[in-house]
Amino acid sequence: MAVQRGGFSTRMGFILAAAGSAVGLGNIWKFPFEVGQGGGAAFVVLYLTCCFVLCFPVLVAEIAIGRKTRRNAVGAFKALGYHKWAFIGYLGLTSGVLILSFYNVVAAWALGYFVEMVTGNFGIGKMFGDFTADYISVGLYSILFMGGTAFVVSRGVSGGIERAAKILMPTLFIMVLCLIIYAMTLPNAVEGLKFYLVPDFSQITGQVVYSALGQAFFSLSLGMGALITYGSYVNREDNIVSSASLITLTDVGVAVLAGFMIFPFVFSQGIETDGGAGLIFITLPGVFESLGSTLGVVIGGLFFLLLSFAAFTSTISLLEVPTSYMVDEHKIERSKATWIVALIIFAVGIPSLLSNGAVEALGKFASLPGTGTLDFMTFVGLIANDLFLPLGGFLIAVFTIYVWKKENFNEELTHGDSHLKGSWLQSYVNFALSYICPLLLGLIFLVTVLDSFF
Ligand code: PHE
Repeated sequence: MAVQRGGFSTRMGFILAAAGSAVGLGNIWKFPFEVGQGGGAAFVVLYLTCCFVLCFPVLVAEIAIGRKTRRNAVGAFKALGYHKWAFIGYLGLTSGVLILSFYNVVAAWALGYFVEMVTGNFGIGKMFGDFTADYISVGLYSILFMGGTAFVVSRGVSGGIERAAKILMPTLFIMVLCLIIYAMTLPNAVEGLKFYLVPDFSQITGQVVYSALGQAFFSLSLGMGALITYGSYVNREDNIVSSASLITLTDVGVAVLAGFMIFPFVFSQGIETDGGAGLIFITLPGVFESLGSTLGVVIGGLFFLLLSFAAFTSTISLLEVPTSYMVDEHKIERSKATWIVALIIFAVGIPSLLSNGAVEALGKFASLPGTGTLDFMTFVGLIANDLFLPLGGFLIAVFTIYVWKKENFNEELTHGDSHLKGSWLQSYVNFALSYICPLLLGLIFLVTVLDSFF
């Protein structure tokens, strides 16, 4: 007997959920600091190019594989008859578990900061190190975050994931707009925008290209089967390419908008833009403090609530990948599967939780030739985001075109989309998946390995 898998009830529900997966800490926390370190607008141009040229075709391929097979990231390859290729799915599961294990810790920081802002404790920015080292508080916030995520996922696709996305995504959008409007009124906002929008192409180095690509991949939730999984709940008649376009545009749109609020904020205080991972957690509380106690609480609270919401729709998708694997392949009831997986991932995340000041050995976990000393959390991020995701994307492109075969892929793609047949967009997606994606993604994978480990 077939298991009851559930599915999205509307196309809009799917688009919002997938956009929710894409829009996350990657857009609001990581994107601005990567822009700051990558020299500003030149990075933005590269990032946008990568999203549309390289990532969009992979996004389409993932959704097509999911919709065709109606299976999880591992089962999809088996359902197509390629059992050996199911290793791509297992790689994806591993990436998902690893990413969620540390992502949940950063999400817990965001939630914790929301509470600090609302209670008017702006000094927290100067005590970021003490905050992350306090593993009891951060641990409690991360239990809360993982628990909330598991609660939503356990309620199923339409009753949990879709419903949450339908509430959170529009709210998130409104919050971003309010914050941008406010940020524009700050002194020096124009300087911030200049840095953000006027490209200086002399800033582009190999390293910048490579981090723009990694960022594009992470930001679109690609290369680990999250979109195969969500795609498996999509109605057969829905249009894949136009859904994928909307998902890409929303993700890119929110990242770009995030810059419009963060750079005016940062420049209003004349603070350096290359603050790295702490840009948001260290710099912004000081900016909010300068707004005065009432306005600071409102704007600061709003900002970290926004960050928590964005993270939440992403943790939901990260948890759904292993959950749907357990439901489909091991016939475990959804709610039970969800809580078991959440517990395991939480446990996997404990060293990451402890690696930001609580346990010294975990803070200096690995010393790699290319990157120097890394804490455990950054190390796991390097392996999962920078290595596994591009590798997964490479394998998915190769699988789609050369194993599953172009004809079958295109048949699935054009089902429910009569206009696509013979269009330039279809030709482009095929060309990119056949040549551009395998070449560039394969190259990035190799460069990352050589760069980091040798
Ligand atoms: N796209 C998410 C973000 O930008 C992160 C993510 C990666 C989510 C992979 C799911 C899968 O924060």
